[in-house]
Amino acid sequence: TSAENRRLIASLIRDIPDFPQQGVGFKDITPLLGSAEGFRATVDELVAAAPPAIDVVVGMEARGFIVGAPVAVALGAGFVPVRKPGKLPAATYEVSYDLEYGSETLTIHTDAIKPGSRVLVVDDVLATGGTLAATAELIRRLGAELVHVAVVMELAFLEPHRRLAEAGLGETAITA
Ligand code: PRP
Repeated sequence: TSAENRRLIASLIRDIPDFPQQGVGFKDITPLLGSAEGFRATVDELVAAAPPAIDVVVGMEARGFIVGAPVAVALGAGFVPVRKPGKLPAATYEVSYDLEYGSETLTIHTDAIKPGSRVLVVDDVLATGGTLAATAELIRRLGAELVHVAVVMELAFLEPHRRLAEAGLGETAITA
């Protein structure tokens, strides 16, 4: 069941204090990915969160690739990577934002998604919401429709929804 999946998922996420820097608590999903049952449960929960008729799954480098790609295959959708700078070979759009630690720029190919496509964003962790807000802006620039966001976990104490609301994403449906 979904409740059993969620219990298993929670039990396989490891807390690493002071990583990547002092004072930051890191959610390590490698035990989850390394467990056949855990990875299966993770993909099943993300797939179950998806609305009908998704054309494209967008995943953010790097952990969003790992969880997003199997979700795309399961949904019969394409997969589009949002990458860190200097990685995508063709023309890109770029958006910069502040991270929980440091700052980051994300990029997407300008022709990666057909305008009007229905997009599901998949990532492992929703923390400050900066990565998601930047990804949503990239999807908007392509003229596609962000219909749902599915993440493995949300760090509510970082108040991602406040930041997302400030970015105009207050109405975006999110499953965590
Ligand atoms: C992590 C995580 C999310 C993002 C969430 O990625 O995988 O993409 O941070 O944080 P936010 O909501 O505060 O933006 P990270 O940048 O560490 O990259 P990685 O997946 O390559 O480790």
